[in-house]
Amino acid sequence: HSLLILNGPNLNLLGTRQPEVYGSTTLTDIEDACRATASRLDIDVSFLQSNHEGVLIDAIHDARGVHDGIILNAGAYTHTSIALMDAIKSVCIPVVELHLSNIHQREEFRHLSYISKVAVGQICGFGAAGYPLAIEALTGYLGTS
Ligand code: DQA
Repeated sequence: HSLLILNGPNLNLLGTRQPEVYGSTTLTDIEDACRATASRLDIDVSFLQSNHEGVLIDAIHDARGVHDGIILNAGAYTHTSIALMDAIKSVCIPVVELHLSNIHQREEFRHLSYISKVAVGQICGFGAAGYPLAIEALTGYLGTS
């Protein structure tokens, strides 16, 4: 299996961005942890981070025929982007929604997720550890599909 790990706006700043909310782990650290989990499970992982909604949409389209699943932390676009939701709906690729923080315990405006409406499931609140958990979850899901 091949998984795309797609990170949206401001996640390039992980490590220094509001560490009290998002922790001190950098995106590079997260990618290293994902590679370790992927090699243990004998799957391939690719990474893309963008601050631009259209680039994220293009990445979802381009995953067709290349990746079997996507782990998506859409950042704040989670709460606003019907376009990202439609992109996920338009490709037949299972998506696991991921957030470092528990969005349900935070401000009201973070409680709505357009991604949840089209994702297989959601992992949130486990910080950086959520990424390897999402790889495990999606690999298990693909194994049964
Ligand atoms: C986030 C939660 C979002 O509400 C926020 O806008 C982010 C990060 C998370 O990983 O906890 O940028 O997706």
